[in-house]
Amino acid sequence: MKNFEFYNPVKVIFGKDQLSKLSKLIPKGNSVLMLYGGGSIKKNGVYNKVKESLKDYTVFEFGGIEPNPHYETAMKAVELIQKEKIDFLLAVGGGSVIDATKFIAAAALYTAGDPWDILSKDKMVEAALPLGSILTLPATGSEMNANAVVTRVSSNEKFAFNSPLVYPKFSFLLPDAAGFLPQHQVANGIVDAFVHVVEQYLTFPVNAPLQDRMAESILQTLVEVGPTVYHNPADYEAMSNLMWCATMALNGLISCGVPGDWSVHTIGHELTAIHNIDHARTLAVVLPGLWSVLKNEKREKLLQYGARVLNITAGTEDERIENTILKTVEFFESLGIKTRLADYNVTGNTIDKIVKRFEDRGWKAMGDRNLITPNVVRKVLEHQLASR
Ligand code: NZQ
Ligand code: ZN
Repeated sequence: MKNFEFYNPVKVIFGKDQLSKLSKLIPKGNSVLMLYGGGSIKKNGVYNKVKESLKDYTVFEFGGIEPNPHYETAMKAVELIQKEKIDFLLAVGGGSVIDATKFIAAAALYTAGDPWDILSKDKMVEAALPLGSILTLPATGSEMNANAVVTRVSSNEKFAFNSPLVYPKFSFLLPDAAGFLPQHQVANGIVDAFVHVVEQYLTFPVNAPLQDRMAESILQTLVEVGPTVYHNPADYEAMSNLMWCATMALNGLISCGVPGDWSVHTIGHELTAIHNIDHARTLAVVLPGLWSVLKNEKREKLLQYGARVLNITAGTEDERIENTILKTVEFFESLGIKTRLADYNVTGNTIDKIVKRFEDRGWKAMGDRNLITPNVVRKVLEHQLASR
């Protein structure tokens, strides 16, 4: 096992009828900025509950945060914060709202130049406003981690940053609100959580059996409850299990002492930046291509995942690996998530553009062993262009 540090200060409040506790968690007298997306919180009742719980606070609002949140929009919130002297940010919605809020929290106090540098140049965050979150969509794990991903529309670029200063002080997890999600968003959530686990698990063995089994248990649970919650998002029990899986998938626990890969995400972010394809769908395209191209390098973990999660034990090693990739693709497709570039009208021109972007940024190689060069990225994407 590798050395590691584990720190996660997020207080989680999970379940029904919990929002009355909100006012106990935000310091009295704070002026609060409530941030949200395109209006789902007004339809699922969360907006009114939050307003009721915060009736003794001065509450400002900033709505209209887009899925794959925009830097340009976030900077408008920063202006409002500076004008109104906001003390506390409250993100209400899915991962996009929480991510935007994290960036806004850091950008509002950034004095070292253009806040875009936090994302594009990995500039250190030295201070951030405190924030809390109310999660209505299980997927990203943003509610219990210190990451955020933001897109700059003017340049079609999507970058992530990470800072312990943007951990939410608390996160309410609301499976009942998630019951209002359209089916395709539920599918996105299942696949995003699934691939988060894979990025931290399906690398190479480092003798970390506990982390492996924790990762496998999340994957197994997703395979088990995914179809139920996909077909009936209002199934509270199934949605609760999906929501906790998604949080546990990316709160730092399963990555302790093990290598991470994250190249599926890095490549997928380009597909979203260029074609605005939903985040999870980009992952469902890239993952099978990456496994197919790197099947020898990831052989041991592919076999272990196939056997323990998908019960694939018959045949030669090569046959088991083929079957493991196929069954994973079938799982994604059973949730209505397509896995080929052609399904999203993406052609070879985009592959050229992505490879050039990686080269222009000077990214020599990525992945758990720096095996994924721009040339391997090309092979991965070309595999998905041609597959089936
Ligand atoms: O905008 P509103 O009206 O709220 O509608 C949203 C949005 O249209 C809707 N929605 C949310 N909760 C709902 C609901 N609709 C009905 N009922 C509810 N209860 O769902 C749509 C999608 O929301 P979004 O927040 O974009 O989805 P998600 O949570 O999947 O977040 C995706 C973003 O997170 C980033 C992605 O790159 C993408 O930008 N990620 C963040 C990560 C992190 N912070 O750790 C890791 C991930 O890998 C990912 O990259
Ligand atoms: Zn993701």
